Amino acid sequence: MKKTVFITGADRGLGFELARKYAESGDRVFAGRFKKNWHLLDDLAARFPDTLHVVPLDVGNSESVKAAAEFTKGRTRSIDILINVAGVWLSADTGTILDDGFDYDRMLTEFNVNALGTLRVTQALIGLVLESYEKLVVNLSSEAGSIGGCAKDGQPGYCMSKAAVNMQSVIVLNAIRKHGGNVMDIHPGWMLSVIGKATADPDEAFCEMPEGVRYYVTPGQVAENIFELLKNPERFNSDEPAFINSFGERLKW
Ligand SMILES: NC(=O)c1ccc[n+]([C@@H]2O[C@H](COP(=O)([O-])OP(=O)(O)OC[C@H]3O[C@@H](n4cnc5c(N)ncnc54)[C@H](OP(=O)(O)O)[C@@H]3O)[C@@H](O)[C@H]2O)c1
Repeated sequence: MKKTVFITGADRGLGFELARKYAESGDRVFAGRFKKNWHLLDDLAARFPDTLHVVPLDVGNSESVKAAAEFTKGRTRSIDILINVAGVWLSADTGTILDDGFDYDRMLTEFNVNALGTLRVTQALIGLVLESYEKLVVNLSSEAGSIGGCAKDGQPGYCMSKAAVNMQSVIVLNAIRKHGGNVMDIHPGWMLSVIGKATADPDEAFCEMPEGVRYYVTPGQVAENIFELLKNPERFNSDEPAFINSFGERLKW
């Protein structure tokens, strides 16, 4: 059965690759566009004029989210899978609590986009999700949001924003489970995307890993994995949302 999928942050990176994968599979895609004058999504929309809808969307802005929801409601009665991909990693929040280098304005942006942005979009579209067959919300989290698995002593803005995404997933699941809804958190792996490249030289991909990092993967590879995982999301069901990597392995909360 063909699905309707809504993807935020679809200009490039994982969001774009997911939009391409679902569109090429014949599913209907609503792809959130943040970046203006960017050709990738336009090219994809030209290939799938009947099934791919480009939706202007700044998840950090409530008015933009509201407008995107209205646009979508005008074109579909349901969304099977909402995939919250949009995110930012603002590298300036490095240093530790022992330094004076924390940039709180950048941390606020990370919180607003990664944590509150995900919540805004989910709230705006949850009615359409619960009208669907699959009723699934997928949040792109990170190992950086794992409290139980954390060995970092820096990057508090990004890590706290992703931990907040995880908490949000539990709260949303508690509210929608009784309506048949489901929520998953996925850590994609260390991807060679804009965010990934901020910390890794792409020319040196697949060479020495920073401590604790298992692999570099391309957004296209991750999109393939996530696409397969989401064919049978119920196998990860439990009392809490699944918090898994893109190979389906569970992470510590
Ligand atoms: N890359 C990694 O290694 C890694 C690891 C763990 C988790 N993640 C998570 O995986 C997700 C995808 O990451 P990625 O590597 O594909 O990153 P990416 O290439 O930077 O893509 C993120 C997308 O989100 C968009 N975006 C940024 N701010 C937005 C806003 N306010 N509203 C709507 N869209 C916005 C970006 O637009 P612009 O291009 O215009 O900025 C971009 O298209 C993110 O949530 C990230 O935190 C990534």
